[in-house]
Amino acid sequence: MRDSDPRVVLGLHRSRHERRLLTGALDLGVTAIDTSANYLGFRSHEVLARIASDLLPKFTLSTKVGYFPRADRAEHSLDPTRLHGAVEQAARDLGREPDVVFLHNPEHSLQETAPHNRDALFQACATLDDATAKGLCGAWGIASWDPSPLPELIDVTMPRPSVLMVRAGLLVGIRTLDTVNTLAAAWGMSNSTMWGMSPFGGSTGAPVWDRIDPRVFLRDRAGLSRVQAAFRAAYHLPQVNTVAVGTDEPAHLGELVGALAAEVDEQAIHQYRSLLRDRSRGQPV
Ligand SMILES: NC(=O)c1ccc[n+]([C@@H]2O[C@H](COP(=O)([O-])OP(=O)(O)OC[C@H]3O[C@@H](n4cnc5c(N)ncnc54)[C@H](OP(=O)(O)O)[C@@H]3O)[C@@H](O)[C@H]2O)c1
Repeated sequence: MRDSDPRVVLGLHRSRHERRLLTGALDLGVTAIDTSANYLGFRSHEVLARIASDLLPKFTLSTKVGYFPRADRAEHSLDPTRLHGAVEQAARDLGREPDVVFLHNPEHSLQETAPHNRDALFQACATLDDATAKGLCGAWGIASWDPSPLPELIDVTMPRPSVLMVRAGLLVGIRTLDTVNTLAAAWGMSNSTMWGMSPFGGSTGAPVWDRIDPRVFLRDRAGLSRVQAAFRAAYHLPQVNTVAVGTDEPAHLGELVGALAAEVDEQAIHQYRSLLRDRSRGQPV
């Protein structure tokens, strides 16, 4: 078994939830998993407890609340009572308290809470803060796919999350990268509390990955594949300490862990951001 590396979190969003993946992750030193109440058709917690109750104590475990099942489709909510109930339910279903509970994509619910968005976000954050203080989870965070509505709602009175999880990688646009910087500054987040997610935008099979060679972002290609280079570059777009990535293949996870040793060319990242910014302003690139 390799030494544990906190920079990689195995994300279970698209996972089949197979035990061999979890044992494979531990062998590779990947000792953090990220799930959500709504993953695997709202069965992720229960299935993890069933197939891997003996393994779960070996992982740092994060999950998310804020999506609730409904007959036709999932429903977003920032309602404090529902959120508190969901945190309690998560601990019951998993058979242990999660280390981190994220508020899941609050931007969706905020569309419906106007003009009381700030108050709705405040109450939701306070609920997770309170759940943490009561020991229902180790810490709380915000996971946001599109954080654009958030910065204007944050002031010094807003409870501060311990972790902020945002999209990361080469598919993230400059508007989101800038918003993340603003949000992280508003909340006073340090790099060590920033997590990236979905470094391949959900699929390495998307045509875009055949059209670019992310190895230009590495100082030394050192025999790494394009997928490995894209993963390594994701830690700088935006600057994050940890990345949640999905795979059902332990061998693929091993490749990603292997990419961590590569050094990123920060100048190339800087130039890439400048290109994105010029393009967003309509300037020729
Ligand atoms: N709003 C939110 O809270 C939110 C939203 C999205 C994601 N997330 C988090 O981020 C995690 C990851 O996101 P994601 O699964 O959507 O997308 P992702 O990590 O960008 O992409 C996952 C895909 O990459 C492939 N892959 C991984 N390593 C590979 C390798 N070495 N070679 C070839 N293919 C490889 C996997 O295929 P194989 O199975 O074939 O390896 C999988 O289909 C989620 O599980 C979740 O924890 C959170």
